[in-house]
Amino acid sequence: MGTFKNQNDLDVTASSQTSVDELDKFGTALLGFSNKVDCIVALADKDLECPLAQAYAAQFFASAETKQGVKKAKQYLERANNLSKYATPREQAIIKSSNHWCQTERRAAAQVLEQVLDENPSDIVSSKWAQSLHFDTGNAAGILRAPLKVAEACDDNAYLHGMLAFGYEECHLLNEAEASVNRALSIQRDEPWAHHAMAHISEARHNLDGGIKFMLDVSDTWQNLSSFMTTHNWWHVCLFLVDLNRGDEALAYFDKIVWAVNQDCVQDQINAISLLYRLERIGVDVGNRWQNLAEKVILNCQDQVSVFLDFQFLYALARANHKEADNMMQRMIARHETVSQDEKMAWELVALPAAPGIIALANGDWQKAIDQLSIARPFLQCIGGSHAQRELVALFYIDALRGASQWEKVQQILSLRYRARPQVSWIKNQLRDAYDHLGLSQVVDF
Ligand SMILES: [Fe+2]
Repeated sequence: MGTFKNQNDLDVTASSQTSVDELDKFGTALLGFSNKVDCIVALADKDLECPLAQAYAAQFFASAETKQGVKKAKQYLERANNLSKYATPREQAIIKSSNHWCQTERRAAAQVLEQVLDENPSDIVSSKWAQSLHFDTGNAAGILRAPLKVAEACDDNAYLHGMLAFGYEECHLLNEAEASVNRALSIQRDEPWAHHAMAHISEARHNLDGGIKFMLDVSDTWQNLSSFMTTHNWWHVCLFLVDLNRGDEALAYFDKIVWAVNQDCVQDQINAISLLYRLERIGVDVGNRWQNLAEKVILNCQDQVSVFLDFQFLYALARANHKEADNMMQRMIARHETVSQDEKMAWELVALPAAPGIIALANGDWQKAIDQLSIARPFLQCIGGSHAQRELVALFYIDALRGASQWEKVQQILSLRYRARPQVSWIKNQLRDAYDHLGLSQVVDF
């Protein structure tokens, strides 16, 4: 065992320089959303003297966000903990963060990594993990702060600018976000996280045509990416298509890519669920796809690792009339009693009231859906995900109001949306419908 330098001039404990070079390759794979990111597992199994390889392997499995993943993560975490006494202070802190992560204490895990970044401002891999954890806990400022802490040292790295772009976008700093996208692509055209950030920026600017054009122009580079990154970038393309009332094209992408890459990945599952919901609500016949989705979702419905995942899983099960939906709802309601303090707020303030509301929504019990979702909505950000992903709950709410014929509220919500996004077909159609029901057809000039 010795101490060697990695490509960012940081000390790494390992059995050889070869291991550290392989660790660098893993870092690049992680930053670039490569489908080779699982190389960390082989390295951790090979070099039992490298604490960082063990900690990264633990984080790799924990980031799968399944109970099975956490279980697997703990095997590697145990090895990391055993090696901790030989590790550098930076490595010890990363191991500490991994321990928090495996206890589903994602806020605490991110906080420890932020300290690592303060002391090691070239540790871009820790910055990536920190951004991911901040994303999972809905901390927009953290999503930006994590890459900013390594910005000076890693200025020539395209992945740094992709991370910055997403951070700026989630903080609604759209001009800064676009500048970061441009910087990333000037270094490396195939930077998928920068492409992803540009989709968010276009969505926030209501630039549907521009968003589609940008994404399709760079989509030839989305080869050899993780299933999440591939399907999520195409998911964004589909959101633009839905808003342009091109549902049939979006459904074709659903079948060809969004739900065709890795049906076992929870992130792929939620991309599929939230796209299918959006397609159905604009009148696309989705056939038996809910039943098909539910067959996969059912495998994770007992995990309760993330409210953000669970509320979408629950809708899919309920919409498919799966007998497990009610049981899952009960588990979601009870979860706040046993979860870590770190994650309690999300389960208590969001899952507890929203779970019965989601079942009610799927069953057409509109008033109950409105009542339950209304309690959860003010606290939604704490469950994590992006603005675009949490938008699904706003759509649930609008659809419940329409189901309950609460046309005054529908008019108020949709007229504001129409003013901001006049080109979105479903907003226009549903607003016209609301005016008709309110006896105000004569005011409709669109
Ligand atoms: Fe996204």
